[in-house]
Amino acid sequence: MSERLLTPIIIIALFLGGLWALRSTDPSSVTLAPDRVPLVTGDEPITEIFTKAGCAACHTVPGIPGADGRVGPPLIVGATGPARLADPSYRGHAQTVHDYVIESVLEPGVFVVAGYPAGTMPTWYGAKLSGLALEKIAAYLERQVEMVAQ
Ligand code: HEC
Repeated sequence: MSERLLTPIIIIALFLGGLWALRSTDPSSVTLAPDRVPLVTGDEPITEIFTKAGCAACHTVPGIPGADGRVGPPLIVGATGPARLADPSYRGHAQTVHDYVIESVLEPGVFVVAGYPAGTMPTWYGAKLSGLALEKIAAYLERQVEMVAQ
């Protein structure tokens, strides 16, 4: 390719790259962009797992300071999970509350809790949470049965 063709292409590419960078660092953006959520290894304390992953922004989680989000349901899945699994409209594959939590995090679209918005929970957690982090999240949430004062 000649240099005369290549130069404008490079300039356009740089311009588009700049636009993209501006878009993803816009501080007024309220949506949780995947590039701002670091990989959670699972070695972190449980509170950090929920805050690092951004769950705390959308969910209230008993015993997790700062987890007082109201976008999604309160994560007292020990109490609510059995009813989800028994719901006639449940089409997922989980047989246990533990697996229901993992499924809800990896594939939020499989079952949308009534009264809450579909397509809101991020769909990219599979790439951001390690298996250990997922296990710890599920083990913690399946034990939560009621909201407790924090
Ligand atoms: C941007 C907001 C948002 C974030 C961030 C988010 N969620 Fe959610 N979540 C929702 C909404 C809204 C629902 C309800 C609709 C649905 O079922 O998809 C939900 C549903 C759930 C459910 C099913 C709850 C039930 O009562 O059956 C679980 C479990 C869950 N989220 C766990 C998590 C975990 C763990 C994280 C962090 C790794 C997380 N969510 C991050 C918005 C969010």
